[in-house]
Amino acid sequence: MKFRERMLRSAKKNDSRVVLALDFSDPYDARLARAERVLSATKGAVAAVKVNHHLLLPYGLSGIRGVIDACKGEGLPLIADLKLNDIESTNLNVVDSLLAFGFDAVIANPFVGREEGLGKVIERMHIDGGGVILLVYMSHRGAGEGYGLSDEKGVPLYRTFAARARDWGADGVVVSAKTLDKIAETRRIVGKDCLIFSPGIGPQGGDAASGAGGGADFVIVGRSVTESPDPAKALRDLRGRMAQAPAFE
Ligand code: XMP
Repeated sequence: MKFRERMLRSAKKNDSRVVLALDFSDPYDARLARAERVLSATKGAVAAVKVNHHLLLPYGLSGIRGVIDACKGEGLPLIADLKLNDIESTNLNVVDSLLAFGFDAVIANPFVGREEGLGKVIERMHIDGGGVILLVYMSHRGAGEGYGLSDEKGVPLYRTFAARARDWGADGVVVSAKTLDKIAETRRIVGKDCLIFSPGIGPQGGDAASGAGGGADFVIVGRSVTESPDPAKALRDLRGRMAQAPAFE
């Protein structure tokens, strides 16, 4: 089954369009246990889990076996947020490790290009039903300094990146929940089969309901849940707000 279908199946099963960013800044000796506790309290109410350097750097893939197994046990797709941006041989080495340890998808930077960059990575992930999600427009304040740059024909980089996602057969794109116009523009370019993931909610100023209502398929949410004294409640509240947004599919 393709990554897109696995995402939609999981979203339906758990009635959730939230990708939980399992990010923690606790001391290293406490971080993993906290991640496992938060995952355990929320795993029935999220569509997928995203892991970033917060866990991957201090613990490595073998060190987060418990997190991976918990996601597998629950049928939750697992996304590595590496913003992959290297040459092909290194990128392939990275995704081979991710697949070997049970990850389902990787976030990558289309800036690196297709040839000897990401083309074969997408092919490789698809062989195993995995996915590649490309950055189109990020959620931090300086995003416009890069993704908003225009080429010599006046086309902004984010539109070029959206077109690359479509043309390269990427499974999804990341577009900030704070720029609803760009979610809509991206949707027009990538079509309905490419999933739109929207981060930037809460501490970064975006709103889950408007991000989802703006046409994203999934919102990516980290600190609003992981730093809450009651992560399960924070997630419930967030999903309640999203329920106001129009349904997808
Ligand atoms: P917060 O705590 O802000 O965490 O809800 C969001 C998570 O998503 C990552 N993030 C992004 N990832 N493109 C991405 O691929 C983005 O524009 C973006 N904005 C935030 C962030 O690193 C954290 O893991």
